[in-house]
Amino acid sequence: MTFNVLIVDDEKNIRAGLGRALELDGYRTLLAADGQEALDIMREEEVDLVIADLKMPRVSGEEVLRRVVDQYPTVPVIILTGHGTIETAVQAMRDGAYDFLTKPVSLDRLSLLAKRALSTRELVLQHRQLQHELDSQRQASAIIGKSSEMQRVMEVVRQVAPTKASVLITGESGVGKELIADAIHRLSDRPDKPHVKVHCAALSEALLESELFGHEKGAFTGAIGRKRGRFELANSGTIFLDEIGEINQSVQIKILRVLQEKQFERVGGEETLTVDVRIVSATNRDLRAEIEAGTFREDLFYRLNVVNIHVPPLRERKEDIPLLTASFIKEFARENGKPVEGIDARARAALHKYHWPGNIRELRNSIESAVVMAKNTFITLEDLPPSISRGADEGDTIKISVGSRLEDAEREVIRSTLAACNGNKTRTAEVLGIGRKTLHRKISEYGLE
Ligand SMILES: Nc1ncnc2c1ncn2[C@@H]1O[C@H](COP(=O)(O)OP(=O)(O)OP(=O)(O)O)[C@@H](O)[C@H]1O
Ligand SMILES: [Mg+2]
Repeated sequence: MTFNVLIVDDEKNIRAGLGRALELDGYRTLLAADGQEALDIMREEEVDLVIADLKMPRVSGEEVLRRVVDQYPTVPVIILTGHGTIETAVQAMRDGAYDFLTKPVSLDRLSLLAKRALSTRELVLQHRQLQHELDSQRQASAIIGKSSEMQRVMEVVRQVAPTKASVLITGESGVGKELIADAIHRLSDRPDKPHVKVHCAALSEALLESELFGHEKGAFTGAIGRKRGRFELANSGTIFLDEIGEINQSVQIKILRVLQEKQFERVGGEETLTVDVRIVSATNRDLRAEIEAGTFREDLFYRLNVVNIHVPPLRERKEDIPLLTASFIKEFARENGKPVEGIDARARAALHKYHWPGNIRELRNSIESAVVMAKNTFITLEDLPPSISRGADEGDTIKISVGSRLEDAEREVIRSTLAACNGNKTRTAEVLGIGRKTLHRKISEYGLE
């Protein structure tokens, strides 16, 4: 992204000099001879940074500052002041200027300040954008995700929720299967009826059966009274059978019967009960493989899987990471009473690069610990768990054959670093550890312009 920097000074030489220096840093510059011209330009063009002299004819720098703070609050303003006018500079800072530069302007300091002001602006803009998207998503549901993959999932959720069809939700651990199940119930024709959840893997075989279907007094040792099962409790509502791949054959048969005939008996009971229950189930196992292996009934699979919703892993929808991250930061900043507002560029890149075996649950946990660790308003690379930050700075690589001419190798390193820095020569020189003059010479020597 190229930034537009507006330079406002009534002295032509200063305008042009500052302009040249900033263009070398890779910015696009716009020049204005006084405050009025500057404000006119801002009405026409998107400006990312204003560098303004204070004393100018027609509209002064103070007035430009006031108008920018008022009308373009995310655009930073750097004030130029002459010697001995520190008080006016301090006043300008109080009025909302980002910083000030004294004349004669040090080009290094200009370069540094501009870079800093622009990266702050970028963070603020990103933060606003995410906040905005988040607010509009919140109104829709608790499920965050603007990737086309998640949009498709939500489309199916909206379509099947109001029907009575059984839904099987599949996907790796931590992708959000339970959240999808919640949404199906909430958007169903029975949102105010019971929503009963059973975590099938957490219960032993014997316990699971009595948990699901209930038992009569004396059905087994310890059955001191009659107990109603989850299917009874879920009557007229929805039952969510989580980790359905974990249930044994005898429970499989009973569930199949509920699906086919809506009927079952309590453990140790004679009475046949009839229920009207919508069944939503979830698994991170490959049930087709379990059918092949003979551990899961094929007929039950087809009854459960009338509609399949597959939730893709996070690494296949990395565009959802920024929004999820922003939401988790907000949540944990509030919970821990910390003023964390966002995440800086390196940390963001690390989140993007990581492969997320634990999916959204892992992202959520990582952000929680990062918020707790954060020392500033922005999460940095150091705040992230080592497993994530470790791979972050391994940059792009280029291939140079053994026996290449040194010149060719140097040319290749400079060319690719320039490209990686988006053509920003100051940054490239910094990364390569050489001066800007040397870089410029080499660029023209090697014809890299
Ligand atoms: N799209 C999403 N938006 C916001 N939060 C999400 C999203 N997906 C998952 N989460 C959060 O991530 C965590 C894990 O989600 P969930 O428990 O639904 O995953 P799961 O697929 O059921 O995992 P498992 O297979 O391990 O049970 C939860 O805290 C959930 O709130
Ligand atoms: Mg789950």
